[in-house]
Amino acid sequence: MAACSAAGPLPPSALRCEYLVNPVGIDVANPRLYWVTAHTERGARQTAYQVLVATTPDAAKGDQWDSGKVASAGAVHVVYGGKALESGRTYYWKVRYWDQADQPSAYSSVATFETALLSSAEWQAQWVKGGSVVRKEFTLAAAPSRARAYVAGIGYYELHLNGGKVGDHVLDPGYTPFDKRVLYVTYDITNQLRAGGNAVGLMLGEGWYHARAARLQLEIDLPGGRHVLIATDASWKTAEGPILADSIYNGETYDATRELTGWDSPGYDDQQWSPVIPDETPHGTLSAQMMPPIRVVADLPARKMTSPRQGVYVFDMGQNFSGWTRLRVQGPAGTRVVMRHSELLYEDGTLNVENLRAAKATDTYVLRGDADGETWEPRFTYHGFRYVELTGYPGTPRLDSVMGREVHTDVRPAGSFAASKPSLNQLQQNIVWGVKSNLHSIPTDCDQRDERMGWMADAHLAAETAMLNFDMAAFYTNFLRSIGDDQDDDGSVPDTVPRGRLKPPADPAWGSAYPLLVKYMWEQYGDRRIVEQHFEGIRRWAEFLHTRADADGIVSFVKYGDWVPTERTPGDLVSTAYYYLSVDTVARMAEVLGKSSEAAQYRTLADSVAAGFQKRFYHADSHSYANGTQTANTLPLFFGITPAGDRDSVQNSLNSDIVYSKNTHLSTGILGTKYLLPLLSQNGRPDLAYDLATQTTYPSWGYMIEKGATSIWELWQDVEGPSMNSHNHAMFGSVGAWFYTSLAGIHIDPKNPGYERIRIQPEMVRDLHYASASIDTVRGRVASAWQRERGRTRLEVTIPPGSTAEIHLPTFGNADVTVEEGGRAVWKGRAFVAGAPGVAGARAAGGDVVIEAASGMYVFEVKD
Ligand code: BGC
Repeated sequence: MAACSAAGPLPPSALRCEYLVNPVGIDVANPRLYWVTAHTERGARQTAYQVLVATTPDAAKGDQWDSGKVASAGAVHVVYGGKALESGRTYYWKVRYWDQADQPSAYSSVATFETALLSSAEWQAQWVKGGSVVRKEFTLAAAPSRARAYVAGIGYYELHLNGGKVGDHVLDPGYTPFDKRVLYVTYDITNQLRAGGNAVGLMLGEGWYHARAARLQLEIDLPGGRHVLIATDASWKTAEGPILADSIYNGETYDATRELTGWDSPGYDDQQWSPVIPDETPHGTLSAQMMPPIRVVADLPARKMTSPRQGVYVFDMGQNFSGWTRLRVQGPAGTRVVMRHSELLYEDGTLNVENLRAAKATDTYVLRGDADGETWEPRFTYHGFRYVELTGYPGTPRLDSVMGREVHTDVRPAGSFAASKPSLNQLQQNIVWGVKSNLHSIPTDCDQRDERMGWMADAHLAAETAMLNFDMAAFYTNFLRSIGDDQDDDGSVPDTVPRGRLKPPADPAWGSAYPLLVKYMWEQYGDRRIVEQHFEGIRRWAEFLHTRADADGIVSFVKYGDWVPTERTPGDLVSTAYYYLSVDTVARMAEVLGKSSEAAQYRTLADSVAAGFQKRFYHADSHSYANGTQTANTLPLFFGITPAGDRDSVQNSLNSDIVYSKNTHLSTGILGTKYLLPLLSQNGRPDLAYDLATQTTYPSWGYMIEKGATSIWELWQDVEGPSMNSHNHAMFGSVGAWFYTSLAGIHIDPKNPGYERIRIQPEMVRDLHYASASIDTVRGRVASAWQRERGRTRLEVTIPPGSTAEIHLPTFGNADVTVEEGGRAVWKGRAFVAGAPGVAGARAAGGDVVIEAASGMYVFEVKD
């Protein structure tokens, strides 16, 4: 192979299939492929690609698909177009691309994707239930050449083979509406099987559904073309193991003296075990779990140990997070050590568990009595906590007797943000903790109390922040499918997905998660397939709201409205605003799909809802809506309901409420808060948005931080006690998106989504003298970092190949600035100076010099 030339197109990287890196177990017939291009020159773009897919590691063979040279600028969402995929196969692929000068790159390194069971007819295993462990032994004539395990569970499971746990997932499978769909996971077990006797087993936990049922199938290929199938059926055996009780909310009780030593190895005597019971309950369709698994992602050592009472030890982990505690202990067999978890402490240093409500968050370990000590952590529960209390510990524990284990869906970090204001960096940290603690295969509202549901408003409010900080594409793809699964015949969706016991339908602002998540998937990832798959669903949701509207388009139906504000906004205003937003989103998504008649139909409907809204809620004398709260004015302004002629005056009413009535504080609940700062930024008051973001007195994010918060609270108030006051909710973390879009200034363009077209427009406000952010987008890294010092502004920008950007450099009122890029003038004497590579033009607009740039890395300097 020719050596990579020093200049030109570099081989594609970050190869993905259905958003996943080398996925094992996908069940889509025509998966989409992605790659990121890189180039040594500015202005680079892909003009063609060639994908090769093979059934052997030598992808060059292309026996499955050789796309040939396809003229296309798109390196994302390329639909597999080769021979029909078969179940249980590994496919190897690589890609190269041609640049704007028709120069080819070298091929990428080889990536893989693997199919699971593409048809449900291939499931021969039966659903079985029993005690907390099930097992089966089998003999293989030879070591396998390839073997896969497919495992589904209602409730949690842990897969064991020949003496050990398989894989690094925990708390599988993901939570879905189990009556509609159950996720199964594929494991490569080739190396864990051997010629002769083998044993397979499952530990079962109650999970979300309070049931222990599983369906498992091993597909084993032996050399010489022989195939062995091992599947759950009536011949499997079950027993009660060491787990005496497990509950997501209450914790786990594990008696190590009852361990069934050797149960997952061949040759174990299971004569005393009972046969499993076939599970006749109808469960949903089996689908491959195609999102990052829940894992133990990090260890958090305890920072401090105190003993508020004799025999009671309290550990401060220094961070509110989701997961559990690993215990190290040495003592006599039968000793019971109890670990309780909490977010809060009382003044006397003991645990305050009142806000967990009914959740006991208590793990109990009964020692085996190993002379060298023993280590234990639970399997089928998790807690949201900062403090751990140990009682019953034999002797005095040490700081390292406990270890915090951070557990949540292992989404890949995709973004970073930092600024010169320390409180913003702390807030960014708290937001990231708030978001990730609440990713447990679904976006949960909280991670600690007796709730942890997929509350739909919480989901859409946190989504953009989540997407800027993490690679959320596969996660929300799965969640959207669950929303669709849980949609009722009348088009309504539940308040929580999976559906809880709440009475349907959802509050309009909650159910709007359906269209909004579709829109965010389109904007952030350019995912047209999601729009296609869910268009009918979101249209039916909008139609459902239509049935709830009166003749003026007012929806009075409300359950929660602008939840947990400091000043209430009328519910009919909120519901009608979200009705408008849902219809508007359907119209936009219809446009994306080229459905022009639906686009026009829903645009007309949206306009009429806006007119009705204006008529019902607008007070022309005070230039404000309804009771004039910040939320009442923010929603119509941000959603585009307010007629153009009234916008400035409504914005002024909002600004003066913030500044004069509230002394520069917000009064918004979870809904208004998401849009308030972006709205201020859009409408010329980024300084005021900044003041709110950095405010330190109640109500504000800074107030939470002053009170010691390490995540984001559910309430603006500093409340404790048995009422609703989670200290780790993601929803008020919605402000995190504003850090990226406004302070660092990275904006998507909904017409050219997925960062194909980018606007960089940083807001250099108040005392901030630098801010920087980067996002690993589907097209590669986008970054913006600025510094302002002594009248000099420096802005570094990264635009990935194939994308273009409009880059705004502020002039701070000095129309006569000079702008240089890499030391060479691009703007001087109020005119564009041509010559800098990649810089196609510059103009003055709105007090900025606006640069038009192609891909590449740029360093701009503005000089007085
Ligand atoms: C949840 C919220 C949710 C709300 C609905 C609460 O219990 O924690 O975040 O959206 O109920 O009003």
